[in-house]
Amino acid sequence: MIRRGAEAEIRRDEFMGRQVLVKSRVPKSYRHPALDQSLRAHRTRVEARLLQEARSCGVPTPIVYDLDTVNAEIWMQEIVGPRAKDALMKAGPEEVRAISQEIGRMVARLHSHGMTHGDLTTSNMILRDGRVFFIDLSLGSKAASLEEMGVDLHLLREAFQSAHSDMMYAYDIIAETYAREYAGGKEVLAKVRDIEERGRYA
Ligand SMILES: Nc1ncnc2c1ncn2[C@@H]1O[C@H](COP(=O)(O)OP(=O)(O)OP(=O)(O)O)[C@@H](O)[C@H]1O
Ligand SMILES: [Mg+2]
Repeated sequence: MIRRGAEAEIRRDEFMGRQVLVKSRVPKSYRHPALDQSLRAHRTRVEARLLQEARSCGVPTPIVYDLDTVNAEIWMQEIVGPRAKDALMKAGPEEVRAISQEIGRMVARLHSHGMTHGDLTTSNMILRDGRVFFIDLSLGSKAASLEEMGVDLHLLREAFQSAHSDMMYAYDIIAETYAREYAGGKEVLAKVRDIEERGRYA
């Protein structure tokens, strides 16, 4: 076992002679058993599908080798590298700029193909060879609305406010790159401001 989170456990295993990572959604005893089973199966299916769909659109994600909806497991490639969250904390201004531009480019690519991530934070990104890999897509969507895209960026902005409050300029670089790379980007950023206004008066 290499990691136990709120919903999932991550372990290493072997698949056809290859070392892989297994993300396993554990049963929750506070849910009705049948509902729990179908929820875990559903999230597993959604996540595996989005990982593959994003990858086929040129957005780096782990390769999915197999999925097991009964045990709610995804067998996938391990991306060896730091999480964007940790890399940003150690990076100098030049590197922060490069990482932020790459994040902006990849969010733009994901959105321009109609997909959203659903839990877009710097903990759900792994850096390898100058590329940003997205993981943890189970709350994402394949036919995303403007609102869902706005929520993606809103969550990312909040992640910067809480984890990287000394580098809000990095979020600005992400947003700027995003708007340049995605034709619908400006409209999404207006939606983000909307969402934040609503938050303030709620
Ligand atoms: N394919 C992968 N390659 C490398 N590391 C991974 C991979 N998938 C998951 N991890 C590691 O495991 C952690 C948890 O995975 P993930 O984000 O998919 O699950 P989670 O449900 O959000 O769990 P948590 O509640 O702990 O965040 C990630 O933050 C990352 O450090
Ligand atoms: Mg996560």
